[in-house]
Amino acid sequence: MTVLKAQALSKLYGAKNSKVTYRALDQFHLEVGQGEFVGVMGPSGSGKTTLLNLLSTIDKPTSGRIEVNGTDPSVLKNKELAMFRRRQLGFIFQDFNLLETLSIKENIVLPLVLDNMKVEEIESRVREIAEVLGIAHILEKRTYEVSGGQQQRAAIARAIIHRPAIVLADELTGNLDSKAAKDAMESLRKLNEERGTTILMVTHDPFAASYCRRIVFIKDGKLFSEIRRGTNRQAFFQQILDALSVLGGNFDDVSQARPE
Ligand SMILES: Nc1ncnc2c1ncn2[C@@H]1O[C@H](COP(=O)(O)OP(=O)(O)O)[C@@H](O)[C@H]1O
Ligand SMILES: [Mg+2]
Repeated sequence: MTVLKAQALSKLYGAKNSKVTYRALDQFHLEVGQGEFVGVMGPSGSGKTTLLNLLSTIDKPTSGRIEVNGTDPSVLKNKELAMFRRRQLGFIFQDFNLLETLSIKENIVLPLVLDNMKVEEIESRVREIAEVLGIAHILEKRTYEVSGGQQQRAAIARAIIHRPAIVLADELTGNLDSKAAKDAMESLRKLNEERGTTILMVTHDPFAASYCRRIVFIKDGKLFSEIRRGTNRQAFFQQILDALSVLGGNFDDVSQARPE
């Protein structure tokens, strides 16, 4: 089953009435099936963040169409759109975006509280997910009392606790050291393989990308190529490096590739 469909997505930036426009995304196609774990990679300025902003309905495409679980978010009114975002999508950000005034647990359950879920159901979900992500012992702590890696795993828990159709992540390992990055990616792998969580992740880190099962490469706003992982993640890591070198472009912001 297809969870996410992007058809001929284009995004032009530029002031209204101005002749100077920039085509950040150009007739971009993408389909993500249920249970997939897809990475999006490309040089700086290739349109990755633009794509994610469109898919997450933060921004609107100039042309083209998006469908999530059969719904085209562009037809939704403000209130419906907010509900759509809250129910169908999960977000993981580079800087975690946890609320400092809340405990880790309060942060994780926020999407459920907003949806008026019963307390017992909330409790059982948070206990279960915290166990899976290895953060059961820090649930009562404040965000500033735990490590960056633990914060990101809490953010992952928050992104999936309402069982969204798809989780969208932007550079989720960007602020993590290599050990924490590995833990975060192992967590996503586990969620994907054991629970069928559908994930779309933008990254320029080949190590993080090697946990995906499929990677689409984007260049100048267009789909450039696509690779799929076999059984061996090490081999996939090498394949990713090769694909990136073919892709060319500026990778100034690429973190150092990490050998195991
Ligand atoms: N709000 C904006 N206004 C004008 N140009 C933008 C805006 N956002 C991004 N761009 C341009 O669109 C291109 C794609 O940007 P972006 O999607 O952020 O790329 P990436 O995330 O792959 O680095 C870049 O050339 C960028 O300068
Ligand atoms: Mg970006």
